[in-house]
Amino acid sequence: MSAAPINAVRPNAAPRPAESGLANRLSEGLRLPVIVAPMFLISSPELVIAAASSGVLGVYPVANARTLADLETALQSIVAKLATQGRADQWAINMIVHPTYTRFDAELELLERFRPRLVITALGGPQRALDRVHAFGGKVFSDVISMTHARKAIDAGADGLVLIASGAGGHTGSYSPFAFVDEVRRFWSGPLVLGGAISNARSIRAALTLGADFAYMGTRFIGAPETLVSDGYREMLVRAGLEDIVMTKAITGVTANWLRESLEAANFDFSKVDVAGKVDFSDIMGDAKAWKRIWGAGQGVSNVTAVESVQQIVDALVRDYAQLDALDAHLAAWPRTA
Ligand SMILES: Cc1cc2nc3c(=O)[nH]c(=O)nc-3n(C[C@H](O)[C@H](O)[C@H](O)COP(=O)(O)O)c2cc1C
Repeated sequence: MSAAPINAVRPNAAPRPAESGLANRLSEGLRLPVIVAPMFLISSPELVIAAASSGVLGVYPVANARTLADLETALQSIVAKLATQGRADQWAINMIVHPTYTRFDAELELLERFRPRLVITALGGPQRALDRVHAFGGKVFSDVISMTHARKAIDAGADGLVLIASGAGGHTGSYSPFAFVDEVRRFWSGPLVLGGAISNARSIRAALTLGADFAYMGTRFIGAPETLVSDGYREMLVRAGLEDIVMTKAITGVTANWLRESLEAANFDFSKVDVAGKVDFSDIMGDAKAWKRIWGAGQGVSNVTAVESVQQIVDALVRDYAQLDALDAHLAAWPRTA
């Protein structure tokens, strides 16, 4: 008899039941099941507002506000603007929960006043945020790159998962999305977001086919005028293709995808591409941090072919999604009778 696989899909653990209908409720008012992913030094309040106005969901990474006063101003502007559009709830927050990130408690205190309906935690388990976000009625999704962390997040009480598969911009996972969604769906029926090189309509549809509820899209939106990036970054994205993306732990200590040209411009020593840097998020706003000169992007970068506004990008995705009928015919061709 062969031994049971070491990592069998928790044969002894009853899955925690997911809140019924949560993914549907979060997708109300959206034109596509797209979340504009949070991006350090890139996402602005304007990006989050433009995402909602265009019919998708934007996420503000609280670390992008240099001070707590800036954070309060950012949240006020998002809430005020969206309230005028009758979309007061259509925004979400991203928090770094890594133990080295020291501003966490103060940020959470502010969020208790603004009450985002969704908080997405990154760089650690969701425990630090769960009770307090639940207390004001918010939901917590945990961003994960491994099966172990996916299980732990659900066990801890997360309301949903954001699976970062291979090819993602910034900190990336390494699993194939096929395998990752499939194995997570064996124990989790609740909200599932999939990220990693999803940058066109066909990929959004593929994410849903795999079993995800939402596509998490970062790279496709970096170049929009609503972001905080320089024109040089925008132009570099337009020039870049798959082979211009370099994966390394050298910059932040965590595996991430970067634009080769920006690494070259920063005189990065490519012989160190396999050497891990130090993980430390205690001073990510500091001027010395490499992030400012070394620019992230994912493997879906070739879909950035021009500088387009969020509205233009979303309109194009909606139009392309509606034109996937040819794909339907392709799918309907199978199975064939032999
Ligand atoms: C430059 C850059 C910065 C990022 N910063 C963050 C961040 O601050 N917090 C976070 O949770 N994810 C961050 N991400 C990851 C995105 O939220 C998301 O997982 C990723 O963009 C999805 O893959 P894609 O870029 O291929 O669409 C960043 C991604 C990029 C490209």
